[in-house]
Amino acid sequence: MKKDDRYLQVAIAAAKEAGRVQMLHLGHSHRVEYKGDIDLVTVVDKLSEKAIVERITAAFPDHDLLAEETLFEKKGSPWKWIIDPLDGTTNYFRGYPCFCVSIGLEVDGEVKLGVVYNPVLDELFHAERGGGAFLNGKPISVSRVNDLNRSFLCTGFPYDVREYADFYLRYFREFIIRSFAIRRPGSAAIDLSYLAAGRFDGFWELKLHPWDVAAGGLIITEAGGKVTDFKGGLFGIYSGEMLASNGLIHEEMLEVIREVNSKIGR
Ligand code: IPD
Ligand code: CA
Ligand code: CA
Repeated sequence: MKKDDRYLQVAIAAAKEAGRVQMLHLGHSHRVEYKGDIDLVTVVDKLSEKAIVERITAAFPDHDLLAEETLFEKKGSPWKWIIDPLDGTTNYFRGYPCFCVSIGLEVDGEVKLGVVYNPVLDELFHAERGGGAFLNGKPISVSRVNDLNRSFLCTGFPYDVREYADFYLRYFREFIIRSFAIRRPGSAAIDLSYLAAGRFDGFWELKLHPWDVAAGGLIITEAGGKVTDFKGGLFGIYSGEMLASNGLIHEEMLEVIREVNSKIGR
């Protein structure tokens, strides 16, 4: 795929349209539904998804869609758009300005394109496989921090955190005492994009969904970073488990995870 191709243009237009919807409704009170105890969905998640899906299906009516808020029937296409219409819903609901749109395009099982748009800062991250990673059109690359002790990490917690708090906190505890600092921003796609841009050095999280990571994962590898599972093996967007870094601290992060795993018999 070329940089000026239609796929990228459609993905960017769709992400910006959804971002406009989000900014229009930001700070208003929203009707919410609960998908779980602490997992909510607002009308803006749905409106954003509608705006994205309309754009994509108008341009590519035969392509498949995997979107967080709607179950689409499979068409059997090799092209699959993977959409998180609003990543950071809890933040959005509370008016905490850290949320984004994430759109990935998988072709024959491989993510080829990723777009993450943060409408609050008007920051658009994008990557195409083999073409590098960009922030608002300018090339980005991961940081050069090569020591976990000096590293700035980010993470998130899945929505079953109330049930498995001790388990998730084992990893958190080890990383917080071995890194320079940790943030928990509340939007995985922003975490990954920031890592790609060198703002963070490492990220880990469990039980992520494909729409959380499809775009951000590609943006990181195209920015020179590394993405694996918790054992250092091949990362898959459907596997849930993700360790991402600038590459330089990856082995140290893996070692921390190995230690935790051996203590908890995982
Ligand atoms: C969530 C956010 C959060 C992460 C959760 C995700 P949502 O996505 O990315 O940072 O910790 O695992 O589910 O529900 O706001 O789209
Ligand atoms: Ca999400
Ligand atoms: Ca979402």
